[in-house]
Amino acid sequence: MKIKEASFIGSFVKPEQFPEDIVPEIALAGRSNVGKSSLINTLLGRKKLAKTSGTPGKTRTINFYRINQHFFLVDLPGYGYAKVSKKERHSWGKMIENYLAERENLREVVLLVDIRHDPSEDDRIMYEWIRNQGYGHLVVATKADKLSKSRQMQQIRRIKTKLAMPEDATIIPFSSLKKTGMEAVWDLLKIHLEA
Ligand code: GTP
Ligand code: MG
Repeated sequence: MKIKEASFIGSFVKPEQFPEDIVPEIALAGRSNVGKSSLINTLLGRKKLAKTSGTPGKTRTINFYRINQHFFLVDLPGYGYAKVSKKERHSWGKMIENYLAERENLREVVLLVDIRHDPSEDDRIMYEWIRNQGYGHLVVATKADKLSKSRQMQQIRRIKTKLAMPEDATIIPFSSLKKTGMEAVWDLLKIHLEA
């Protein structure tokens, strides 16, 4: 994908604030700190467009990025972040739910999981929801640079089993650090953007 233009549109928390543009939209979901914002920067070849942090819970709003005047990438707040109150966690959950339920042009929800760890209960719930909604259920396993090639393959198989993914479903090992997996992710996203 040639990125001619990428811009931050805004941070929103309520459906009535979301942009009204009728363009294809792809959202990134996953636990706090898994690397959603980093993946956006990597895909767009921009170091600091999406704010990232070593501390989980960096992205707390729904952030829209417009690419080539043609589609949106949407950075969702991470779930499973322990250091917030129950009430705040609940309101984040609601915010994500409202977003997912409202967006008519949402073409794909990409689930990000850390390649080193077993998926959490929240990941399993998220994945099941994505499948039930009929999305392409693409899973990206982040931070692949932290494991050897053979450990990556082992973990991919393990994550696939734990998420009860169909045999033909895809998990792409990805590294924002080394930019591996970038072409593979774009190739799959393009299918949804061009459909
Ligand atoms: P929230 O906004 O809290 O939901 O987190 P996030 O999923 O947006 O994670 P973010 O992109 O902010 O990354 C979290 C931390 O992981 C940062 O310190 C990143 O530098 C690091 N990180 C992200 N991707 C990779 C990767 O591919 N490899 C390595 N080694 N570190 C990564
Ligand atoms: Mg983030």
